[in-house]
Amino acid sequence: MGLERPSEAMSVPPRERRTTFSLQSSSYVGMGDLLACRRKQSILVVEDNELNAVLLKEMLVSRGYPTVAVHSAAEAEAEIRREAPDLILLDVIMPGKTGYELCRELKQDPITRLIPIVMITGLSAQEDRVKGIEAGADDFLTKPISSEELFARVGSLLKLKEFTDELETADSVLCTLGLSVEARDPYTEGHCERLARYATDLGRFLLLDEESIVALQRGGYLHDLGKIRVPDKILSKGSDLTPEEWEIMKQHPVTGENICRPLKSLRLVLPIIRHHHEHSDGSGYPDGLRAGEIPLLPRILQVVDIYDALRTERPYKPALGHEQAAVTMRAEAQSGLWDEELVAEFFAMLDKRRQVA
Ligand SMILES: [Fe+2]
Repeated sequence: MGLERPSEAMSVPPRERRTTFSLQSSSYVGMGDLLACRRKQSILVVEDNELNAVLLKEMLVSRGYPTVAVHSAAEAEAEIRREAPDLILLDVIMPGKTGYELCRELKQDPITRLIPIVMITGLSAQEDRVKGIEAGADDFLTKPISSEELFARVGSLLKLKEFTDELETADSVLCTLGLSVEARDPYTEGHCERLARYATDLGRFLLLDEESIVALQRGGYLHDLGKIRVPDKILSKGSDLTPEEWEIMKQHPVTGENICRPLKSLRLVLPIIRHHHEHSDGSGYPDGLRAGEIPLLPRILQVVDIYDALRTERPYKPALGHEQAAVTMRAEAQSGLWDEELVAEFFAMLDKRRQVA
């Protein structure tokens, strides 16, 4: 492999310049804070040929990118666990796990799937590219690598990563808001986390795609976000609402949808927020949809929401045991409230888990 050595690279000693500012997707980071603290984006080079790895690293460092070079998939995995980079340059052929295998694994992992990966392939490597696309690679560089091509690819993918990070952060802010809404009602503590876990488990049990699973997880936190506009005195009553109070309470799905609508990354979550109080017989709100008119994702969230509500003590009712909750939900599904098939799938999943445990 031949790499163009940039003239300025020789005068810049390759040194570690890793950022100390790290975004934690589960913690609150305001958009204002994010913009103020914009950090240097880091790059991980995975290349078994030591000379090539050093040259690539020198080229990137010469442009001000904090870069770490490693020589195998195992070292790359350790480095990613230590600190996730913003971009990975990944050689195809390496001893041990190949670049394709590592790429596929990183793209299937929800924690690393949004890190752009550029695969480094040989000159006549049409087949390499097809394999790389199948593994989920975002772009390719062909050996010998020209510095212009390298910096063009790296620049555009890092820009894209910056936007993705901002969207992720906005999601995280909204999910934190969802938790703060939950915190206003001491009887629903932990409800959002349990819902997110049950809903994603049921989604996986039903073999849904990863995008739907992510939407279900966010839906667990965001479905009641609209309650942010419901006054405390109504929220704390739980039941026995006056007709006027009930009208205010019934607005929360539409309010939540309106708050989240500007974020395109929440596209699949919007129906969950809007329709999580619809009933199969059309008696729910806000749209009075019937059975098949209610999209699948809100029907899934609804089933796990009801189960968790039945299993939890509230001011106006005791907690039910698992068997009692199952009997109640099956009866309510038969009477036209919930999706019978999904209720059956949910309990099949729980029963299977109980057998394994
Ligand atoms: Fe709700």
